[in-house]
Amino acid sequence: MRFSHSLPLILLSSPVFGARIEDFKARCEALSKGIEVKGYNGISVNLAQYITKNTTLDPTVEGINTTCTSWIPMPPIPVNLCRLALHVPTSNSSEIVLETWLPEDWSGRFVSTGNGGLGGCIQYPDLAFAASYGFATVGNNNGHNGTSGSAFLHQPEVLEDYAWRALYAGAVVGKDITKQFYGKAHKKSYYFGCSSGGRQGWKAAQFNPELFDGIVAGAPAFELPGLFAHYARFSVNFGTGTDIKVSIEKWTAVQQETLRQCDHLDGATDGIVEDTRRCKPDLSKLLCGSHGAPAVCLSPKELSLVEQVFKPWVVDGQIIYSGIAHSGDEVIHVQNLVGEFIQGPTTWASEWPRYVVHEDVNWDLSQFTPQEALLWKQQNPYNINTWEGDLSKFRDRGAKIIHWHGEADQYIDITQSDRYYEHVSRSMRASPQDLDSFYRYFRVGGLQHCWGGAGANSFGQSGFSMTPGDDPEENLLMRIVAWVEGGEAPETVRGTKFVNDDKAQGVVLTRKHCKYPATNVYRGKGNGTDEAGWHCVHT
Ligand SMILES: *[C@@H]1O[C@H](CO)[C@@H](O)[C@H](O)[C@H]1NC(C)=O
Ligand SMILES: *[C@@H]1O[C@H](CO)[C@@H](O)[C@H](O)[C@H]1NC(C)=O
Ligand SMILES: *[C@@H]1O[C@H](CO)[C@@H](O)[C@H](O)[C@H]1NC(C)=O
Ligand SMILES: *[C@@H]1O[C@H](CO)[C@@H](O)[C@H](O)[C@H]1NC(C)=O
Ligand SMILES: *[C@@H]1O[C@H](CO)[C@@H](O)[C@H](O)[C@H]1NC(C)=O
Repeated sequence: MRFSHSLPLILLSSPVFGARIEDFKARCEALSKGIEVKGYNGISVNLAQYITKNTTLDPTVEGINTTCTSWIPMPPIPVNLCRLALHVPTSNSSEIVLETWLPEDWSGRFVSTGNGGLGGCIQYPDLAFAASYGFATVGNNNGHNGTSGSAFLHQPEVLEDYAWRALYAGAVVGKDITKQFYGKAHKKSYYFGCSSGGRQGWKAAQFNPELFDGIVAGAPAFELPGLFAHYARFSVNFGTGTDIKVSIEKWTAVQQETLRQCDHLDGATDGIVEDTRRCKPDLSKLLCGSHGAPAVCLSPKELSLVEQVFKPWVVDGQIIYSGIAHSGDEVIHVQNLVGEFIQGPTTWASEWPRYVVHEDVNWDLSQFTPQEALLWKQQNPYNINTWEGDLSKFRDRGAKIIHWHGEADQYIDITQSDRYYEHVSRSMRASPQDLDSFYRYFRVGGLQHCWGGAGANSFGQSGFSMTPGDDPEENLLMRIVAWVEGGEAPETVRGTKFVNDDKAQGVVLTRKHCKYPATNVYRGKGNGTDEAGWHCVHT
């Protein structure tokens, strides 16, 4: 099923079409005179501008913080649209910067995008992705600018925006403006996001179930303080940078041994572990001096440090983190956790206690203990843990949610998503068949954090990755629309791996990803590249 968002042909061919563009442009520019939205006093308009397809925004002119532009590209504007930038106060001492992109050729749908990490950054590629399908699209800066948690220091309202309110306010104001601008309300409202954005999607499903009719939530940062504690423990145990206690050479041996024991379990020896739940390698084979140990081997102490990170971390009977998944992608995982490429995890591990838990800028990781981890988790400001298991309000109003997570995620392990699904199942006393009516979860083999990785990693999940096509079969944004509006729920999600993750360079493989709790098994010929050889199996 395809979703047309084109203007009826009669309009395109009509002589008044040119006049309509002028009218649209004029209505857009008139918004600069100001906007009022009930419940939000003091909204100010920064910019109201008609922008034509293919324009590229200039971040230096737009005043976008450089810590954002370092990781967020500015894509060309996909369709003619009205771009509106606003300041929306969310309390006496907080505000969001909101962008609203209103396509000239509107599909009648509304969508909100989310954020990543501790940001602070409007995700322009996601706005462009959604606007290309004619959604009235919003994105905001999550209540602060840049990627640092320093904005939270002694600013509880800014922290509350980050925990839930920025997304809420952006959606409420965005919907109201959409209605004012087009003269009628949206038909259905949607959300998609990954990482922190995945958590934001779940936050809405749990606490503001009225906000969206359909949600796509990827690699959610559930129990965020516990995740940061996991990063802190990893830094303390293994060190940071390139000078780490278990060398990358030794982690390479761990990865090779993992693939040796697990890669074939799914029926295809292709470097992709299709079900990390079934991969339980015996790493004692790497112990120096043991029978058949490789030249690069682990000492007993190294082995015990390494084995520990794959197990759930429990303090005083409480799970702080579910443990790293055995993905066969251990080297990248470790390089990211120790901050060899980007500072993310090591920075967040100290920023959270500094600016939120202790409000002490001198706090550092040498003060970290298991009791600290427990404190972070229990403090749970504004319920940022996002761990409610009862979704009955969301279900009962007919809303739908697609949850997805990469099995090779190097920042947030899929074990957290598995545990959350089971938590919902227990809380609602619902079997997977029961949950299927509104909540479906897909585990994606060989997908890293949100995008990337050796697996079939592109499926219309984000503006940061290539989109294989518009068919709901292989496009999650179109899928959630098909489910909400046409009852076409996803049985599988078809992913594509492009050469160098670039669509222009061609396709490496396509593969359908299975709905939890099924596992992907290959019964075809060769190394797993035959899509039809894969089957979702209940074990
Ligand atoms: C937009 O840019 C692309 C690539 O540069 C070009 O092929 C296309 O014709 C342009 N479209 C418009 C409407 O200018
Ligand atoms: C964020 O940056 C925008 C654009 O430069 C600015 O208008 C806004 O006041 C900033 N917000 C905060 C909370 O500093
Ligand atoms: C702060 O906000 C409250 C409502 O949340 C309001 O009653 C109060 O007057 C505000 N204070 C200032 C100084 O604006
Ligand atoms: C970007 O944001 C960070 C964090 O708020 C801030 O320290 C920095 O000054 C900002 N840079 C610019 C150019 O506004
Ligand atoms: C799988 O086998 C095909 C055909 O032999 C080959 O072209 C392809 O490179 C192989 N792919 C991988 C990932 O090994």
